[in-house]
Amino acid sequence: MTTMDMAVPGGKARPATPARIYDYLLGGIHNFPADQEAGRRLIELSADTRTIAQVNRAFLGRAVRYLAGAGIRQFLDIGSGIPTQGNVHEIAQRLAPDSRVVYVDIDPVAVAESLDILAGNPNATAILGDVRNPGQILGHASVRRLLDLTQPTALLLVAVLHFISDDDRPHAAVAELVDALPVGGYLALSHGTTEVHAPESNGNLVTTDLYKRQAATAVQTRTRPEVERFFTGLDLVEPGLVWLSEWRPDPEAPGPFAATPERSLVRAGVAVKRTRTAG
Ligand SMILES: C[S@@+](CC[C@H](N)C(=O)[O-])C[C@H]1O[C@@H](n2cnc3c(N)ncnc32)[C@H](O)[C@@H]1O
Repeated sequence: MTTMDMAVPGGKARPATPARIYDYLLGGIHNFPADQEAGRRLIELSADTRTIAQVNRAFLGRAVRYLAGAGIRQFLDIGSGIPTQGNVHEIAQRLAPDSRVVYVDIDPVAVAESLDILAGNPNATAILGDVRNPGQILGHASVRRLLDLTQPTALLLVAVLHFISDDDRPHAAVAELVDALPVGGYLALSHGTTEVHAPESNGNLVTTDLYKRQAATAVQTRTRPEVERFFTGLDLVEPGLVWLSEWRPDPEAPGPFAATPERSLVRAGVAVKRTRTAG
């Protein structure tokens, strides 16, 4: 049985979740009425919403191709979401069949759907986990079984940390995860910023309120320096921390926002760990 089989008409209403709202925005099928309503309200707020989701997903794909090209064969993808086209394991294993991937998400539906599509793939799995609790993720039996953290590994934190409020100390959590990476490991990250819309702007307040009420989730966009601080102890690879569509765009297919990259409202970067971090 897949999790979609559990969406029984007349069954208990499911509150929206960021994973399923994002799936709706990407045109996926793993979402329920509350997610669709929240997604529609976000689109009403900004006609760019769907494109931002697509451009973020495209960054993830380019980052994984870059990392595979850099010799990375192990990926820890936290806040991985619901499997959709261009999954990390598909891209990585196409380029290097021995690539290993562990997906981690706080949403049980995302994890169940991931496990469904990963059935029969011995080098990839999905686990329930919370980025706010790195110890639980790093100590998880599946992580320990599939990933050898003495070998080059990429940590992916793509469009997840803006769901973690400062009270939950996201920088400390990321530092703990980065500390577990070996020298030669990478961090790929994208994050909504306050550079275009101030936190107190109407759009930001309505978005924050919508996630809080409909998905019981905090949204905290951050300033550029606050986003850059997640890379402490690492060296950003070229072109640094840039708007999503500016990160190593495919010259053959520059994609939406190529001429107006700030419309993505999201910064993205990939960094390498050249020396041990102080843990
Ligand atoms: C916008 S989606 C991004 C999915 C994927 N990383 C991508 O960029 O295509 C954000 C994901 O973060 C997950 N998430 C939110 N809070 C989380 C937490 N505390 N720990 C782990 N995952 C979380 C959500 O469930 C959702 O699947």
